This record gives sequence, structure tokens and C-alpha cells, in this order.
Amino acid sequence: MLRQAMLAISKSRRAERLVSTSPLTADVVRRYVASDIGAVVGELTRRGLLVSVDHLGEEVTDEAQARAAVATYVSLLDLLPAGADVSVKLTALGLRLSQRLAQGHAATICAAAEGRGVTVTLDAEEHDTIPGLHAVHAALRRDHPEVGVVVQAYLPDSLDRCEKLGGARVRLCKGAYTAPGAYARTADIDRSFVRCLKVLMSGTGYPMVATHDPRLLRIASTLAVLDGRDVTGFEYQMLYGVRPEEQTRLAGLEARMRVYVPYGSDWYAYLMRRLAERPRNLAFFLRSLASR
Ligand code: FDA
Repeated sequence: MLRQAMLAISKSRRAERLVSTSPLTADVVRRYVASDIGAVVGELTRRGLLVSVDHLGEEVTDEAQARAAVATYVSLLDLLPAGADVSVKLTALGLRLSQRLAQGHAATICAAAEGRGVTVTLDAEEHDTIPGLHAVHAALRRDHPEVGVVVQAYLPDSLDRCEKLGGARVRLCKGAYTAPGAYARTADIDRSFVRCLKVLMSGTGYPMVATHDPRLLRIASTLAVLDGRDVTGFEYQMLYGVRPEEQTRLAGLEARMRVYVPYGSDWYAYLMRRLAERPRNLAFFLRSLASR
């Protein structure tokens, strides 16, 4: 119930105005969103962590804004070391305007990134964008085989997706939105996550295990051993500001540990999704407001 309410609030322009203009939210934003992206990337890299950088923004309905997002990603590449990744939302590149437009924009980012030794991963968003996401991903893979895509385990067809994505870089996550017919119970989502993980780990692609869940992390590392993948054959991914000690611990074990780092002023919807995920995050948010 609370999660549904928070996700509804994440789409409310009125709530966005209220929260975004309040100086009281600054502490919470700082916890989850990088304020100085160059400094944060430098610090994480020094600590042996890999990064995937997300320039915040989504649901763009204006062509000029979509073009500006491409330009921002291309200039962001100057700040990133080889081996970094950028996470891209197709709705920020104009998917709501036209699939062709978003695909062209994503291709521009892929071409620029390739020249720098940086990979690109396409985030998964609202359920009605998923067919477009996979169509664009399949088309981009012809010229840019390294382009990755996200699969949301809460979607009942996620297993089928994983089976069809042989050879690809696939980031598996639980899913942060709502979707008709999606698994709702934690146990069902976790079971789906494990089924997908088995397919990805035993397949020919590169699995990116995006979760903070200790049980799923243990299952991932066991499957990697059983499937004969060494530490370079898959990676863990976690969000900036979530379980940072665990991120450092995994990197210390020589595992490939990538931190998803969002930055930029358009943080509202992202932050609301993080608060929706975990009642304790919401409590932290409310406490920090009350303590002012
Ligand atoms: P969940 O939130 O269910 O937590 C499970 C357990 O993890 C908790 O019980 C606790 O033990 C531990 N835990 C979680 N948060 C913690 C915290 N703050 N402190 C301590 N312990 C904590 N979604 C999407 O729909 N599209 C996308 O493209 C992406 N992309 C993406 C990239 C990356 C790198 C990550 C990590 C996640 C995403 N997501 C996403 C978000 C994802 O779908 C999901 O909503 C969140 O990762 C939360 O789910 P968890 O798997 O972490 O488990």
C-alpha cells in the first residue's frame, strides 16, 4: 500500500514542486544522488569500485530536451575512466515521442561511449515502455554488441526475456515501478529473480546482478561458481548510497562491484522510487524533515 502510494506520488507534478523546492530535502537527496559527479566517480574508482552513471531525467516530451540529454551524456564521457558504464533511460531520449528518435539518440551515445572504452546500459522503466526498450536494444546490438539492457524480475515474462537475450550484457533487478500482472509478493519476485539468474549465469552473456538483497547476492555468487564463471565473468551492481559497506566488502574480495551513480537536478522521481522501496528509507526522510 505504502509503496503504491509513494510510486503514485513519484508521478505527481504538485508533489514534485512541493518536495523539490523545499530546502529540507537536501540531506536525503545528497544520500542517494551525487552532487559533484566528477568527485564521486573519482572517489569510487580509487576505492576499487566500478561505476555506471545515470544523468537523471525521464519522460521527456520535448525534442529539444531529448537532444540536450544526448549532449549531456556525450560530455559526461570526458569525466569517466575506461571500464565505466552509463545508464540511459530511453524516455529521457524521446521514446514517448518516437521509438526511432530514441533509438537514434541512443546510437549516438553508444558510438561516443565505444570510443572511450565506456559501455552503455538501457534502464527498464514503466511497463508500457518495455516492448520499445527491447526493440531498441535488439536494433542497437547489431552495431553496438556491448550495449546492455535491464530485465525486471517482477514481470512474469522476465524468464522468457532472459532466455532470448543470449550473449548480451543483462542487468537483472527486481523492478522499481508497478505493472499490471507483475508479481507483487516478495517471495514470488525473489523466485523469479533466481530463475532468471540461473538462465543468465549458465548462458553465454554477461550477467549484472543488481540487488542489495543479501540472500540473492549469496545465490548469485554460488551460481557463478557452479557455472564456472570467474570474478571477471559477471558483476554485482548496487545503488549509490545503499549498503556502501557491502559494496566495499565485495570489491575487497576482487569481485567486480559496480555502483549506479545518479546525478543532476531532475532527481525527484528517482528519489521517490528509492523511498518507496524501503519503509526505513521513508522514515529516514521524514525524520530528517522533522529534525529541522
Ligand atoms: P529490496 O529492496 O527488496 O531489499 C532486499 C533486502 O536488501 C532488504 O531486506 C535488506 O536486507 C537489503 N537492503 C535493501 N536496501 C537496503 C538499505 N538501504 N540498507 C541496508 N540493507 C538494504 N529498477 C528498474 O525498474 N529499472 C532499472 O533499470 C533499474 N536499475 C537498477 C540498477 C541498479 C544498479 C540497481 C541496484 C537497481 C536498479 N533498479 C532498477 C531498482 C531495483 O529494481 C529495485 O527496486 C532496488 O534495487 C531494490 O531492490 P533490491 O533487490 O535491492 O531488494
